[in-house]
Amino acid sequence: MLKPKSINIPKPTRYQNAAIDYYMGLTDSSYLHYGYWEPLPTAGEELTLTSLRVAQSAYAAKLLSFIPEGTKTVLDVGCGIGGNAAYFCSRGFSVEGLAPDALQQERFIKNTNGQVPFYLTRFEDFHTSRSYDLVLFSESSQYIALDDLAQGTASLLSSGGYLLIADMMRSDSEYKEGIFSNCHVASELQTALMQAGFKLIKTEDISTHIAPTIDLCVNNFRTFGLTTVKYIADVVAIAFPPLHAIGRLAFKRWLEKPIIEGLAARAIFESHLCYSIQLWQLSQGV
Ligand SMILES: C[S@@+](CC[C@H](N)C(=O)[O-])C[C@H]1O[C@@H](n2cnc3c(N)ncnc32)[C@H](O)[C@@H]1O
Repeated sequence: MLKPKSINIPKPTRYQNAAIDYYMGLTDSSYLHYGYWEPLPTAGEELTLTSLRVAQSAYAAKLLSFIPEGTKTVLDVGCGIGGNAAYFCSRGFSVEGLAPDALQQERFIKNTNGQVPFYLTRFEDFHTSRSYDLVLFSESSQYIALDDLAQGTASLLSSGGYLLIADMMRSDSEYKEGIFSNCHVASELQTALMQAGFKLIKTEDISTHIAPTIDLCVNNFRTFGLTTVKYIADVVAIAFPPLHAIGRLAFKRWLEKPIIEGLAARAIFESHLCYSIQLWQLSQGV
């Protein structure tokens, strides 16, 4: 196995990597996306990590259904730990992946049995003389500035090539602060892609099919996360009362607001965002 090289990773990307690492630990899955819940859970049905993993496999199949016939080479941008790449590889595509995280690189190589080339880099810094039939952004478009995404992808495709994006997007451009505010505004994404020479071939809003994952994360956070924090706080209050007092102040100052927001994630998502899969084609001659 290749030893991961170190690269200069900017601080915001390191924060994102830490969050992704946490999600990896929770789900123990080879996918890092929300999944596609089909059928939708019934009212009151318990949401489990096992059903999330089923939804994540269904999501890979959903992506596959968007890939045009004749596609052979795929660049998986922000490929995570290789779930999608392994799935596409097993269906005969020639796949390459990139992500700016050495830990993901290690897992990616393992999950794809070393069969899929991995580039340890940000998309913005990726340069190659190769071109691809399709460039995939599965929940990675939100980490990349619009112009970099649109122009960078156009430069990696041969004319008539495809861009497949599946991600959360802001349907409300006034939503500018909060847990999901790094997602692109859907209308701005569309404008940037059209300006770079893309036309929209197919799109589907799958918001209701990813939303159970938000509920599952919030439920688990409430049940295990908050309960554990409360237990630790109770023990500290008994053993080290002054430390507990400092901890209480720190909680009020830095943690209370993001926690309240996290618990309201489903309502925030429904009010300001959507989740869309979009297939774009680079116009012939561009
Ligand atoms: C939510 S994960 C999605 C992973 C994978 N595509 C999937 O669907 O399971 C987001 C991915 O984007 C990657 N990423 C973040 N910033 C990036 C950048 N500037 N260029 C390329 N990938 C980036 C992360 O390291 C991670 O692999």
